[in-house]
Amino acid sequence: MHKLFKIVTLISILALFFTNCSSQEVSNIPEETTPTSQSPTIYTGEKVQTIGISMPAAQLERWHIDADLLKTLFEDAGYDVLLSYGDNLIDTQINEINQMIDQGAQLLIIAPVDSDSLGSCIENANKANIPIVAYDRLIYHDPYLLAYVSYDNYMVGQLQAQYIVDALDLNNSDNDSSFNLEIFSGDSADNNAIYFYDGAMSILEPYIKTGKLKVLSNQTSFYGTSVSSWDTSLAHERMEVLLSSYYGTNQQLNAVLAANDSIALGVSEAIESSYNKDNQVIITGQDCDSSNIQNIRDGSQSMSIFKNLNNEAYATFCIVQNYLNGVSTGDDLTEGYDLDFTIRRDSNTYVSDDVYITSYLLSPEMVTNVNIDEILGNSQE
Ligand code: BGC
Repeated sequence: MHKLFKIVTLISILALFFTNCSSQEVSNIPEETTPTSQSPTIYTGEKVQTIGISMPAAQLERWHIDADLLKTLFEDAGYDVLLSYGDNLIDTQINEINQMIDQGAQLLIIAPVDSDSLGSCIENANKANIPIVAYDRLIYHDPYLLAYVSYDNYMVGQLQAQYIVDALDLNNSDNDSSFNLEIFSGDSADNNAIYFYDGAMSILEPYIKTGKLKVLSNQTSFYGTSVSSWDTSLAHERMEVLLSSYYGTNQQLNAVLAANDSIALGVSEAIESSYNKDNQVIITGQDCDSSNIQNIRDGSQSMSIFKNLNNEAYATFCIVQNYLNGVSTGDDLTEGYDLDFTIRRDSNTYVSDDVYITSYLLSPEMVTNVNIDEILGNSQE
């Protein structure tokens, strides 16, 4: 197999400090260590012809769109594309990726089911000098990770929570009034889920502390509120249990922080069938899936987060192209492309094995029934 990587420089330990980004408050940095910068790598191999794309699940709408967009971009540029969908199962995804390596994939774009568990694939890819791009979800323990491309996940949570604060007018309501909230976090194996949660809690926690927001179930921790596989029916079941246990005759439920649209769907179904008060429960979401857009129009979901997948896929394409054209990963890999969206190169948020991972982060937008047409136009429906 041809030598694709050449480690050009080893950058010595830098005392990096946080700058102007919204994501800076979360990272899994062990307290005692100061992460180093990722070593720049440069592509020096022969022509890459085959790209492997591994998405985490075919069950969720967005990954089909991502896959189609990426496949089209790379095929139109003359590459062969191998594609697989993981089925939300770690072992299945690992087998599929290893198969793609066997079938000749020379560069991999992976949105992992579990950010922490791709061990054998990373080993095989490293041995064969196959670069990996972490798509939307970070991949841990790859010393040669080419880049991480995603949306600003912390900001997603902040936008969801700020919506709740504003919709309940928490800053202007009487001191002795309080509102009831329940929390549904994402799949705990997905690295993004903790960022969504932390972003949201950075806004909600002060109100929970003062008692302005009450969580009657007392279930507020990330793991205690996590919905496995982002599964709609699990979210539905948990919402039913919470409603029957805590929101009987006297208690109103005012808001549900739902981490994404597949969870929001289960929550709104349960509220529709089993919540018997007059108030409209505020429900957040993320992805602008088609059923959820309909629910926002009907009023049964309050908001979602729009992450333009065209932009995420195109940014990934540009990054890969630049890399294959010899631009070092130490430089901005979006350079030279006329992007009509904002993307922030970030080297001080995401850490893997005490190394800061170079990330390219796009900005999410909030969608409500007021701005839905303006943001989505007709193309998304
Ligand atoms: C993505 C979300 C998606 C969720 C479930 C996350 O990693 O960032 O957009 O809703 O996975 O698929």
